[in-house]
Amino acid sequence: MNNIEWQESTLILLDQTKLPTEISYINCTDWRQVAEAIKMLRVRGAPAIGVAAGYGLILAAMESARLNAPFNEQLVTFYDFSERLKETRPTAINLAWAVERIVNLVKAETKTSSDMEHIIKIITAEAESIHKEDVGLNRRMAEAGASLFEGQCNLRILTHCNAGALATGGLGTALGVVRKLYETGQLERVYADETRPLLQGARLTAFELHEDDIPVTLETDNMAAYAMQQGLIDAVIVGADRITTKGDVANKIGTYGLAVLAKFHNIPFYVAAPYSTFDFTLKNGSDIPIEMRDAYEVTSFHGIQTAPEGINVLNPAFDVTPHELVTAIITEEGVLTPDFEESIGKLCHIVQNR
Ligand code: MRU
Repeated sequence: MNNIEWQESTLILLDQTKLPTEISYINCTDWRQVAEAIKMLRVRGAPAIGVAAGYGLILAAMESARLNAPFNEQLVTFYDFSERLKETRPTAINLAWAVERIVNLVKAETKTSSDMEHIIKIITAEAESIHKEDVGLNRRMAEAGASLFEGQCNLRILTHCNAGALATGGLGTALGVVRKLYETGQLERVYADETRPLLQGARLTAFELHEDDIPVTLETDNMAAYAMQQGLIDAVIVGADRITTKGDVANKIGTYGLAVLAKFHNIPFYVAAPYSTFDFTLKNGSDIPIEMRDAYEVTSFHGIQTAPEGINVLNPAFDVTPHELVTAIITEEGVLTPDFEESIGKLCHIVQNR
């Protein structure tokens, strides 16, 4: 099942808000539809929203080209659209990373070209390359992650939210590792946290693993402590939305709690993320902007009210796990271990010299 596909000037997105009961797609021919899809989590997961935004920028450039205006004005409009697309979700750095990667390319190209059709071609090639690159990054992360479990079998892995194929352009980050362990016969089962309030674990992780016949047990978030206490969990593997140079990790709300629990129970806590999830400009997790979402996501589900009318609600979409609670970070360049400032510094060096 393809979650993101670019076909003849249309971005086709699997509508993840409808899963698992309905498999339906939306055809985006306007960048505003892409922005809406990102905002409403029709496409979600840090790498996937970066990929979708890349294609969204082709639509933004096409609309700018249709303006009956001089090239410079078309460009200003394109940059304005890019900014608006970038602002749809503030925590996942992959979104800003993808937009900036394309905008910087356009800025460089327009030093020598003032042909919008040519710029559209450049953007299309870059968006496709971001997508293709993500597939490869996932594969390399899966290999690196599996190396942490050499010689181990019957592994029971707990994961939170959805860091799978649905959240990326490829196999997934955390679930890419899980898939590799399944392939090598080392995986016994995945425990999937339901992930309140929007149930990405129940609706998406359980769905995609079940579809692939990978053994999965669903639990509500408040059962994780019980599962650990009962000795049911060998390791936690989660994805990330942004990682700082110190190794602080922003991920779906509830991840921090899991990390605290894992520490108490002496269970390794792993984070799987590609280089595009690292914010090399930010040191402290407390400086990561946390997306606050609408109250109705907590007070209702699928349109059914589950809390008193008008109740006050706290709804941060992400939390930050301090680096002290992270055992290792799995990247396409291998496994990073503490001291993270040093190992992430090395990753930054590799990325800047690619
Ligand atoms: O709000 P979401 O569903 O976009 O949150 C997704 C997550 O938190 C994932 O764990 C993260 O983006 C990593 S996805 C490979």
